[in-house]
Amino acid sequence: MHGVPAPQGIVLQARALAKSFGKVQALKSVSFSLRAGTVHTLLGENGAGKSTLLKILAGVHRPDGGQLLLDGAALRLDGPGDARRHGIAIVHQELSLAANLSVVDNLFAAHPPRRGLCIDEWAMHRAGAALLAKLGIAIGTATPVARLSMAQRQLVEIAKALNRPSRIVIMDEPTSSLSDNEARILFNIIARLVAEGRAVIYVSHRLEEVMRISDEITVMRDGSSVCTLARQQTCAEDLIALMVGREMKHLYPPRTVALRRGSPAALEVRGLNLAGRFQDIDFAVHAGEIVGFFGLVGAGRSDVMDALFGRYRCQGQVLMHGKALRLRSPADAIAHGMAFVTENRKEQGLVLGHSVQHNIAMVHVHSGRSGALLTDPAAEQALARNSVARLNIRIAGLWQPVGELSGGNQQKVVFAKWLAMRPRLLVLDEPTRGIDVGARFEIYALIRELAAAGTAVILVSSDLPEVLAMSDRLLVMRGKRLVSHLETHGLRQETVMAHATGARLP
Ligand SMILES: Nc1ncnc2c1ncn2[C@@H]1O[C@H](COP(=O)(O)OP(=O)(O)OP(=O)(O)O)[C@@H](O)[C@H]1O
Ligand SMILES: [Mg+2]
Repeated sequence: MHGVPAPQGIVLQARALAKSFGKVQALKSVSFSLRAGTVHTLLGENGAGKSTLLKILAGVHRPDGGQLLLDGAALRLDGPGDARRHGIAIVHQELSLAANLSVVDNLFAAHPPRRGLCIDEWAMHRAGAALLAKLGIAIGTATPVARLSMAQRQLVEIAKALNRPSRIVIMDEPTSSLSDNEARILFNIIARLVAEGRAVIYVSHRLEEVMRISDEITVMRDGSSVCTLARQQTCAEDLIALMVGREMKHLYPPRTVALRRGSPAALEVRGLNLAGRFQDIDFAVHAGEIVGFFGLVGAGRSDVMDALFGRYRCQGQVLMHGKALRLRSPADAIAHGMAFVTENRKEQGLVLGHSVQHNIAMVHVHSGRSGALLTDPAAEQALARNSVARLNIRIAGLWQPVGELSGGNQQKVVFAKWLAMRPRLLVLDEPTRGIDVGARFEIYALIRELAAAGTAVILVSSDLPEVLAMSDRLLVMRGKRLVSHLETHGLRQETVMAHATGARLP
């Protein structure tokens, strides 16, 4: 176990910080020390209090108890502007860019360069381009943010935080929507910050990267810091045990029911085509089967899923249980018993201002499949309560607005909402992003359970160990086409990567 770090080089210290929101005690007692020139990672389950702690450090929330010290002197932060003046920058977990503005307008939203009273557009574009180039981010400054992918938006968000000189850079799950390529850009940025002597506070649920980039790791549980460890003194298994408070022998639940591929298939897709998006897509998923979709970013996976969900008009045929469907809108897809867990919960999944209960019962309302629920608040409540217990969603009550939940718990609500509908086909697009290891296991177990009950499942994921462990078959997309159909039994990661990149098989 790591002792007290050497006092030299400590820039920031938190001592017994506490914070409540009404009756919810988000932080009980958090202490840790941050040293210059290091990456300090906060690790903990969904709802452990990581984002709350970071928001206190960034001046967004005021703590109810405890102390903050900057360079050994008591620090009181009166708002985010105050934190910025002290050289503390933050990249929030939820993106905050204005989608209707350009990249550069977002980068300089708080402090555009001026000439006289006017904004100096030319200077702003030049400075914006220089910043992006320095960070190794290849995005045009004039591009409207609405046209960027989630990953690109995340990179712009990071650039925005770094657009001012800062000694302490806080990043709350910056990689949750990044692919490997963009994550590499981020890790280069972090390495540079550290080399310049700045301190980085980092949050992520991806243990491999935590083990790769951290110098020190503080584990949080239920609003308290449990311990701080030097990276060299620990390993992923120990960290998991500290985080969830028990040992986890298996990360993936095994298949318990033998798969029988009946005919006709639950879902059959024939010759699906959409110019510029995907070409000649043919595949089938059987009742009870879990089919993985793997591909590099831009391979076309999400577009195919959007087409299934009725978002595009395209050529080809979609059949369920042998019957051809006409899918003109998401409502059509839902009415046919399809459910979709998407990666962008803000735009496609949740109504943040509404209660947990309302969000979970929402699909029933739209699908019209369970009209009875609408007139039966007790049933609606029972349904919501059941999902909350099953997925271990941390909430103060079913009435709580979803917007108040921690990021990972919001993702669990998205899940609960679709599961409540008992779908015939469940499409999961990156379902475990931002979800802690313990809750991941619960979600995997639920997927298995649904499959055992006859749901056909499509699992789209960039997490290769995850798709390999969970799927019966794996379909690989490359360059907008389905290039391989692989049985997952005995399949190796290297082989899948070779199919996805078009490299020669190892
Ligand atoms: N504004 C708020 N109002 C009420 N409760 C809140 C608010 N913000 C956070 N909480 C509660 O505080 C607790 C800690 O949330 P926090 O967002 O800090 O968790 P986290 O560790 O960042 O989780 P995750 O890994 O899911 O992002 C949760 O129970 C959450 O519901
Ligand atoms: Mg969080």
